Amino acid sequence: MSRQLSEAAGSHYVDGEWTQGDGGETFESENPATGETLGTFRRGTPGDVEAAVDAAENAFHGWRELSYVDRAEYLWEIYHELRARTDELGEVVAMESGKEIGEGRADVVEAAHMVEWAAGNARHPHGDVVPSEIAEKDAYMRRKPRGVVGCITPWNFPVAIPFWHLAVTLVEGNTVVWKPAEQTPWCGEIVAEMFEDAGVPEGVFNLVQGFGDAGAAIVDDRRVGTVLFTGSAEVGHGIADALGGQPGRIAACEMGGKNAVVVTEHADVELAATCATLSAFKTTGQRCVSAERLVVHEDVYDEFRERFVSLAEAVSVGDPLEEGTFMGPVVDENQVEKFGRYNALAREEGATVLVDRAKLDPDEVPDGMDEGHWVGPFVYEIEYAPDLRCIHEEVFGPHVALLSYSGSIEDAMAIHNDVPYGLTGAIITEDYRQMHHFRDHAEVGLAYANLPCIGAEVQLPFGGVKMSGNGYPSAREIIEAVTERTAWTVNNGEDVELAQGLSADVETGE
Ligand code: UN1
Repeated sequence: MSRQLSEAAGSHYVDGEWTQGDGGETFESENPATGETLGTFRRGTPGDVEAAVDAAENAFHGWRELSYVDRAEYLWEIYHELRARTDELGEVVAMESGKEIGEGRADVVEAAHMVEWAAGNARHPHGDVVPSEIAEKDAYMRRKPRGVVGCITPWNFPVAIPFWHLAVTLVEGNTVVWKPAEQTPWCGEIVAEMFEDAGVPEGVFNLVQGFGDAGAAIVDDRRVGTVLFTGSAEVGHGIADALGGQPGRIAACEMGGKNAVVVTEHADVELAATCATLSAFKTTGQRCVSAERLVVHEDVYDEFRERFVSLAEAVSVGDPLEEGTFMGPVVDENQVEKFGRYNALAREEGATVLVDRAKLDPDEVPDGMDEGHWVGPFVYEIEYAPDLRCIHEEVFGPHVALLSYSGSIEDAMAIHNDVPYGLTGAIITEDYRQMHHFRDHAEVGLAYANLPCIGAEVQLPFGGVKMSGNGYPSAREIIEAVTERTAWTVNNGEDVELAQGLSADVETGE
């Protein structure tokens, strides 16, 4: 498969047209498994973003006047296209992001689920009927769209996460300017084709391809009332800071984690090893929900270590397009370098390395893919200490620490919560009291029991606490970020009557 759209047609989709924009620079999408170029794209400029915001601003009035149900009709078209093109687009996800093909398809399925949720929600009640102290008053909570919403999305879920941002935002009556990650512009282009195919009115959906400067232009434009961001903590905190100082603007950011799986003395150890393997190595450790810490009770530590290490030694790293592959490459050389740097840091900080497949054996690298960004699992044990960087900083790769603890679930939680992040976590135990303790005390937005700490579904809130985020850009929760609330009160009586016993008499002094 190769990219069909010709370079001449342009890379940005603004005001219902494909355009080359005003910048002369181009960039390439690269296949992380092979190093091959998949396509060449125009690099968006601040001027291109301005044109996209102009279009979105002009389109807002007409779009918001449609009913929820009419807006959702366009999304249903996209839903059917996502379903019809799951295999094809799943393959593009695998080629462009390096995720194995099963994960590529799941990415598209998750996108379809989000569109289904958003379009279905158009027919659900919106707002509340609220009682009043005064019998003659009817009070309601209603919502209005905020206007132009900026969406900045990462490469690791190049189809699903954009739809987390776009689907509900559009059904709620906003218009959008979207910048996909520079690593996955081809996926971005196909998503834009779907909006074009669905006949979404011009200017309602706008795509600008490019890098951080294009993202920054979205953030800088005061006409963009809400910025939705999923990606690194560094960038997300910068966006939240910038918008925090500007009245009327909102940033909803979902960022990284230094997530952990807690394995207690009451765990089913086989289940624990499976959950830990999925948490640490699915997507080659490049999920914001991936686990880089395994906090294991001393009573089951040896047995767990043996099972986990043998899985980490065995998981298949290989061609993302092969059905039997568990881990594909990491996305680019920066990730290879960062992973190597943190593996070295763990050693410097006193780690005992248990599995080091960081540099794959030449015979493990798939044929003809020598230029790929290949790494394998790196597993170590280290004694917990609050000042160790390797167990506090996010790596975003298959780098995982085993930390033994003794004592009670409270002792496990002290280690678990001792990170600046708070996205996700899991507990493996057969003891319901420990499970509930974890549920109530883990400082995370997503908590799992007897499951890996990955695998959220769109109908649940998705987001974290502490450094992991200030918003929940998913299904129902995103509505808060992309709408304003109106408290709407109507008097059915003939006289004015006020709450709190306040007099409605107009005193004239006579
Ligand atoms: C991410 O980790 O970057 O919960 C998003 C999951 C997926 C979404 C992950 N549904 O694993």
